[in-house]
Amino acid sequence: MNASSPSPAQNQASTATLYGGVTNRRITVRDLASAKQRGEKWSMLTAYDALTAGVFDEAGIPVLLVGDSAGNCHLGYETTVPVTMDQMVMLSAAVVRGTKRSMIVADLPFGSYQESPAQAMHNAARLMKEAGVGAVKLEGGERSARSIELLVEAGIPVMAHIGLTPQSVHALGGYPVQGRGDEAAHQLLRDAKAVQQAGAFAVVLEAVPAELAAQVTEQLAIPTVGIGGGRDTDAQVLVWTDMAGMTAGRVPKFVKQYANLRAVLGDAARAFAEDVRGGAFPAEEHTFH
Ligand code: KIV
Repeated sequence: MNASSPSPAQNQASTATLYGGVTNRRITVRDLASAKQRGEKWSMLTAYDALTAGVFDEAGIPVLLVGDSAGNCHLGYETTVPVTMDQMVMLSAAVVRGTKRSMIVADLPFGSYQESPAQAMHNAARLMKEAGVGAVKLEGGERSARSIELLVEAGIPVMAHIGLTPQSVHALGGYPVQGRGDEAAHQLLRDAKAVQQAGAFAVVLEAVPAELAAQVTEQLAIPTVGIGGGRDTDAQVLVWTDMAGMTAGRVPKFVKQYANLRAVLGDAARAFAEDVRGGAFPAEEHTFH
């Protein structure tokens, strides 16, 4: 077999479905490209640790994102802005160790790529080499195109992220829906085409009107991954703590909660404390002699 003839595992990529088809290797960008051609929709969840990532991997989630949402969902910050490269490397390495099949995508955090394409290259290489992720994600459309191009040329798969870009929370004055009105919609389309042209393998569309997300999805050859982008994107992503009901307080309108883990864990902790206080734990079966 020479470099241009695909291996049996690579051949499998064009035909295997993302659910149940690919079991003996990680999902690749080629699997996601062929899913778009087949019209197979897929899911992505965030993950920040080995244990939770292992659960999602076993559940068959094809792509896990080590999002810089770790800032507010895992590390106790108010926004994603304070998250550092060292933190992203540590969390991403844990997620890689905890999984076998999911493709692992890691966010380049705020301040780790905006300075120059060279800075983006340096930090993306850290995530690939030190954490072992399969791809990186960065925010921005036209403004990030040169960096995406350089990473892709270097062999690093890049997922782009346009629409609402949470690293710009201070400039945006919060988390408003993006792409409303003709000019903003045209800019979103230009951003989507710019990242595709630069070589991104997929693009996240966050908090944009469903009609606009559908239009972008139709016009792009690469998969669109919606979060607050309606039902017509090629894939959907949710922050896992929102999806599973771990988040305290209000969640955004686009979130569906599939469990109430916060209540389940709280109940378990209260029951444990009660057993200890009342002497019911440890019982004989938990005791060595
Ligand atoms: O950091 C993150 O979790 C994200 C998702 C919201 C797409 O970027």
